[in-house]
Formats: sequence, C-alpha cells, structure tokens
Amino acid sequence: MAIEVEVRQGNIVEVETDALVVNLFKGVKVPGGATGAVDRALNGAIREVIAAGDLEGKLGETVVLYPRGAIPARRVIVVGLGESSKFDLEAVRKAAAAAAQRARSLGARDMATIVHGAGIGGLSPEDAAQATVEGTSLALYRFPKYQQKPNNEEKKGPERMTIVEFSADKVPVIEAGARAGKIIADSVAFARDLVMEPPNVATPAELARRAQTMAEDVGLKCEVLTDPQLEELGMGLLLGVAQGSANRPHFVVLEHNAGRDDLPTIVLVGKGITFDTGGISLKPSRDMWKMKHDMGGAAAVLGAMRAIALLDLPLHVVGLTPFVENMPDGRAYRPADVLHNMKGKTAEIISTDAEGRLILGDALGYAARFNPKAVIDLATLTGSQVIALGSLAAALFSNDDDLANRIWASSRRTGEWVWRMPLWDEYKDLIKSDVAEVKNAGGREASLTTSAKFLEHFTEGYSWAHLDIAGPVWTDKGKDYRPKGATGYGVRLLVDLLRQFT
Ligand code: BES
Ligand code: MN
Ligand code: ZN
Repeated sequence: MAIEVEVRQGNIVEVETDALVVNLFKGVKVPGGATGAVDRALNGAIREVIAAGDLEGKLGETVVLYPRGAIPARRVIVVGLGESSKFDLEAVRKAAAAAAQRARSLGARDMATIVHGAGIGGLSPEDAAQATVEGTSLALYRFPKYQQKPNNEEKKGPERMTIVEFSADKVPVIEAGARAGKIIADSVAFARDLVMEPPNVATPAELARRAQTMAEDVGLKCEVLTDPQLEELGMGLLLGVAQGSANRPHFVVLEHNAGRDDLPTIVLVGKGITFDTGGISLKPSRDMWKMKHDMGGAAAVLGAMRAIALLDLPLHVVGLTPFVENMPDGRAYRPADVLHNMKGKTAEIISTDAEGRLILGDALGYAARFNPKAVIDLATLTGSQVIALGSLAAALFSNDDDLANRIWASSRRTGEWVWRMPLWDEYKDLIKSDVAEVKNAGGREASLTTSAKFLEHFTEGYSWAHLDIAGPVWTDKGKDYRPKGATGYGVRLLVDLLRQFT
C-alpha cells in the first residue's frame, strides 16, 4: 500500500513519530533551520556527529540518532543533501528516498519529515514538497503480491508520513505540492504494478479491465475496442501481430475532459505488447522473460492518465493503449506478409519481432481523429535504444522542435531523462520496401532511428514525439527511488509536460 501523506504546521521538535527526518548540506558544521532546532534540542548531538567526521552531508548519506527523551520522536534520521551548488529536485527525491529506506530498515511504522529544500536554491516550496513525497513514496514501492511472506530482509515500510512546516504562510503551497506528489507517486506505482504483473495474468483483456476500473475510479471516459471493432476500423497492422495469440487484442481509449472542444487536445499513445516472444521470428530464450515489460509504454500512459484526471488538468487528453500479445502459432503472421493500417498505409513484414511499431502504426492512425495539438508515444521499441542509452535516458524523436524542447525541459525537472535523436529523411531509405510502402525492419544500421522513421510514416501530419523507453522501463539493480524492477518511467515526465502545457 502506498504511503499516506499529511501536512502539519508546527515545531519539528514537538513531533511524536517513529522516525523524524531532518537534513544537512555537505560541508555544514553547524546546522540551521529545522535541523539546527533538533540539534539544539538534542544538546548538540548532530554537531557532535559532524565534528566526529561521521556525517559529511553527502547526498543520500544517513545517520540515526536516539533522542533519549529529549524530544518526543523515537529516532532522528539526518539525511545528506549533497553540495548546495548542485541541489535540485532530483537531489530532493534522492535524499527523501534514502531517508525513507533507512526508516523502513529500522522498522518505523510512521515517519515525519521536513520538506527538503523548501525555499532554497530557486526551488519553490511547492515543487520541493512534491519531490519530497515522490522520493519517499517511490523508494518504498514493492510488489509483494505473489509472495506469501515479503522478501527476506525487507521490513514493512512506514504507512504514513507527516510533513512538518514551521511557517504557517508556506503550509498551503506545501499542501498543494504534497497532494500532487501523492497523486503522481501513486500513479507511478499503478504503472509499476502493471509492468510487474506476470504476462499470464496481465493479458490484453485483463489490462483493459484494469484500465476500465481505474477510469471509473478517477472519472475518465473509457472505451475498449475488441476484434469486431478493430476489424471494422481496418487495423490490419495490429490484427496482424495479434493473429498468433489466443489472448485477443484490446485497444483502450481513455479520455479526460471528453467532448470539451474548447480545450486543446493532446493524445498519448503507449505500446502495450503484453508479452513479446518475437513471434515466428522467435527471440532467444535467454532473458525472454523480461519481455513482460513490453507494455511499459502503455502502463506509463495509463498511469499518466490517472494522474491527469486526479489533478484535473485543463486539457482534453486522450490515452490510446493497444494491448496485444506477440506469439508464434499456426495462425501467426509471418515475415514477407504485407499488412495495412487503418488508413490504408502498407508495411512489409521483415521480422515479426518488430511488432511494436506495427501496433503503433494503427494507434497513430487512430490518433488523427481527435485533431490533436500534439501526439506523444512511449514504447519499449528497440534493443538498440538499450545499447545506445541504457536505462538512464529514453531516446526522443520529434518532428516539432517546440514539443521536443518542452519534453527536454520536463525531463530535466523530473529526472526522467531523454536524449534527442535525428529523424533525417535520408534514414527512410533504409526501410524502403520493394512490395509495400515501408518495411518493418531495416537491418542493424541505425536501427534505433529507422524504427522512428517507420512510426513517422504512420503519423498524420500532426505534431508528434516518440520516446523509445526500452531501457528506462526496467532496472536490474535498483537505486535511489527506483527499486529493482519496473520503474514506471514516463508517468512523471508526461504529467509534468502536460502541467506545463496548461
Ligand atoms: N520489445 C522489443 C524491444 C526491446 C528489446 C525492449 C530489449 C527492451 C529490451 C521489440 O519488439 C523488438 O523486438 N525489437 C527488435 C526490432 C528488430 C527486429 C528490428 C530489436 O530491437 O531487436
Ligand atoms: Mn519484438
Ligand atoms: Zn516488443
């Protein structure tokens, strides 16, 4: 369960809690502010730890002190904020994450914290509060659903966090930031859960049900297209991929502010391959299990739609998530097949493992009916994205510099990094087909870019950006506020982007 958040005006030294979190910039010998107040109440205990050389204030460093009755808190966690010159929202999230993980390892059932960086270094208290909640909540994320006992060393994390602010003037903005942080972190967890679910559970039908339930909960319009409607629409690319699976495709259409034609329309598209075996162009079995995350783009779109609804952004936002399974079978599509999308555009299949671009080819055609101001798709599209950028940054492609720059700015703010790649027309030569308009694979050369050129062929003249998130969707190691496994990458980026659009 996600951590509950409460904001309270008061003096930090008077707060009763299992774990009280204060902070320290690197190099500070005599702490001020809330940390200074706690230090004085503890008769200089924090100064003593610093003087002993046991606390430098490095980002994410933690030290635990026991107040022995000097204040009502049972423990004090001092967390390092790093260099004040490098301090930003990402540092806030990392510091909050480190404190939360320390609180969990101590078995704290609740925690209280100050907002890291409220009013320092150009951060607004609202953004800092949001980041404090995000870092705390996201760091404590787990997926224990299929374990009778939670994983070995893991204790249950704190269930509640209280943000304590001394200045009554700041409380309303901190409340607003904390509320947004809670909505966004819960939406990231929603996306992570969908990616973590095994593919025997998270079938296209099940993911459509989850989308529907979520939509009802938060007040989104939801429509689910199945075989009859998909055939009616002529979504040949999507149906081609779906041919080999007994789990039939489900195309989810979500709308926030449906029918509000006074508002600008943004369409979000997410690749939703519930499992990617490669199809007839079968993948090697090594690491194939990871292809359960091949619906991470769709999960990010669903998570973002959830947050957008709860934040009630003044935009008309459409979320398109085609859910399809890519399996080999007697009925499966094959290399050399020619398929057409719902607009009659054609593609020759070279590899049935280049399936994501096919289902997106239909979703990008469908996006046109909303007359969008911008269309943004997220997809675990290529192995070459992982080779190029790893899990640190998504590859960004766009036909619109203004949109690309907005995404870049959101990427810097959220720590969900992107790096722009070229969409030069010369690359389209690599996916020329002798029998159709384009082919779905162009060989090893520039394969990251040719996947984007393939998608571009199926766009309809609107402003468009494509994010290849094959690496960022998953982390093998786990770090900071991204525990090992599904990252929920894209939810925070999209929400930030759309909040800036308004
Ligand atoms: N889902 C994969 C891409 C992928 C690979 C995501 C590794 C995450 C980690 C995608 O459908 C795929 O198989 N792409 C092929 C395309 C190729 C056949 C043109 C690839 O990148 O190898
Ligand atoms: Mn594939
Ligand atoms: Zn795939």
